[in-house]
Amino acid sequence: MSTNKKHLVTCALPYANGPLHIGHLAGCFLPSDIYVRYLRNAKKEVLFVCGTDEHGVPITLQAKKKGVTPQDVVDENYTLIRDSLEKWGIGFDNFSRTTRPIHHETAKAFFKTLYDNGVFVEQVTEQYYDEESNQFLADRYITGDCPHCKHQGAYGDQCENCGRTLSPSELINPKSALTGNSPVKKETKNWFLPLDTIQASFLNEWVATKKDVWKSHVYGQCMSWLNDGLKPRAMTRDLDWGVKVPIEGADGKVMYVWFDAPIGYISATKECTDDWKSWWQNPEAELTHFLGKDNIVFHTIIFPAMLKAHGDFNLPTHVPANEFLNLEGEKLSTSRNHAVWLHEYLNDFPGKEDELRYVLTSIMPETKDSDFSWADFQARVNNELVAILGNWVNRVMVLTHKYFDGVVPANENKTDYDVLESARALEEKVGGLIEEFKFRDGLAELMAIARLGNKYLQDTAPWHAIKEENGQERVKEILNVSLQLLALFAKSSIPFLPHTSGKLTDMLQLKPTGLMAGQQVNKPTLLFAKIEDEEILKQKERLENQAQENAEAPELEPIKPTITFDDFSKLDFRVGTIVEAAKVPKADKLLQLLVDIGLEKRTILSGIAQHFSPEDLVGKQAVVVTNLAPRKMRGVESNGMLLMAENTEGKLVFVEPVGGIEPGSVVR
Ligand code: 2FM
Ligand code: ZN
Repeated sequence: MSTNKKHLVTCALPYANGPLHIGHLAGCFLPSDIYVRYLRNAKKEVLFVCGTDEHGVPITLQAKKKGVTPQDVVDENYTLIRDSLEKWGIGFDNFSRTTRPIHHETAKAFFKTLYDNGVFVEQVTEQYYDEESNQFLADRYITGDCPHCKHQGAYGDQCENCGRTLSPSELINPKSALTGNSPVKKETKNWFLPLDTIQASFLNEWVATKKDVWKSHVYGQCMSWLNDGLKPRAMTRDLDWGVKVPIEGADGKVMYVWFDAPIGYISATKECTDDWKSWWQNPEAELTHFLGKDNIVFHTIIFPAMLKAHGDFNLPTHVPANEFLNLEGEKLSTSRNHAVWLHEYLNDFPGKEDELRYVLTSIMPETKDSDFSWADFQARVNNELVAILGNWVNRVMVLTHKYFDGVVPANENKTDYDVLESARALEEKVGGLIEEFKFRDGLAELMAIARLGNKYLQDTAPWHAIKEENGQERVKEILNVSLQLLALFAKSSIPFLPHTSGKLTDMLQLKPTGLMAGQQVNKPTLLFAKIEDEEILKQKERLENQAQENAEAPELEPIKPTITFDDFSKLDFRVGTIVEAAKVPKADKLLQLLVDIGLEKRTILSGIAQHFSPEDLVGKQAVVVTNLAPRKMRGVESNGMLLMAENTEGKLVFVEPVGGIEPGSVVR
């Protein structure tokens, strides 16, 4: 273990745009919690911070989809996320939010320092703009094909497939995520972090020192970006949801979400300590960032570049990023609802928090992607937790009560202490593996202690020994050693199985001083119960239902930006009756209509030729926008527009007044 006095541990701040699923848990929440519990148990001084990332496009898109404000979205999800993590047993010292004033102040001060230090490059550039929603398209507001790996659906700031950071201008075939439109370009001023020069002056050298410190996939990704050559990156955005840019001439601009989010680690520290600098600006404190692989670039390149440019700050020592977890062989997906949600798991499996911790640790995607399946979950719980661990604990406790009324027997000659030595060696191995962020192997060695205990009981067979001459004495030794093994297990399982460790500690009435001969232990309670086939079936059915609902739920267009009542009242809607309809020569889609709008008859061109034949239209009524500027198509002037309803497959139907009404009637 490093000799540092203090350990500041961060877990990537989840976006507050939805609940958490097992991918988030296996990616960063669980590994960071295991690490922190281990450090605390080893009496290290630790601070463990996290919170919700409440700015950025995922939040505003979610709000738009639901027709509520971004603040509504983050308020709801913050509570859901915080409560489910707490219930599951993730032991943060502080779980903050990036919409809190302390964060806005901290992020602004940070930005201002960089600005004052002359770090930013101020530049007017052409950025994509959606004319329909009157908005610049940064980050996730724009999607397209990745120029590097050709993945379709890469975002304006990152391709989640190859992990590279992108700028909207690099996307192939860019489309607005708001309207699906092809964007236009418009000039705007932004402040850029000159990553190209920071690479030369700092990053190349610093990252090279991490070759043997970071996992090879983390270091490898990082080197591949450095080898490509970093580009300056805008740290401001023309949006209204975010931390305001605290400098003159930046009205209407907010910080790039990836500028403010990692500063969230600093503001979360400030919020819960009196001496935040002792964690961030102190060579005696070590900084460790836990995260999923899509966040690597931000924690190994951009945030360190920001910290360095600011000066005074510690840089991360460890960045133990995990790869991705799949579910039943498919990518986890929030949008497709292919996920096991934490709050639902806790509801469906009350009291089985450690079962999920155990299984997710066993399959943690530490060095490559891995897969969660319900069948495997059941098998691991039943064959390992129930059959090995639970069974061992139960047998030792039952025998102690049967032969010694629950009093820990003495073993004055320290007979069979070699078994205890072996267990201690395993315990040490567990610790070493946790320090190397090898949690899967660490858990396997922890279970080796339970296997050792089981085998010892099997080999010594106290139920036979008791019948031998002097059997009572021998069984005292066996159960003394077995109970000490349980005590050792209770301690070394704290990082992985905190709930189980707590139950075992209670059962043994274990004091910090250890287990004493002559002390009483409690009656055993079952630590784990078998997971029945029906429970697994229910979960599988739930996944199938989620998939089905998702397939059925049409991908509706998001609601357009809000307009004022004045905007609305400028529109003139009338009922019109189609009196003539004909095809427009050489135009596949257009029909030329003559529409009676009461006051007059209008020529209107409508792109509905592939949906209706002209003869079916005469006599039909429709809502007409009558004050739309005239538009010439194929040499004919169109004076108005017919309103139609269009479903997600592009099917058109008339919006007709039920029962009919005089042409010219106003619609409002
Ligand atoms: O990818 C994500 O979910 C981001 N919200 C992670 C942010 S981590 C940190 F830097 F804040
Ligand atoms: Zn890519």
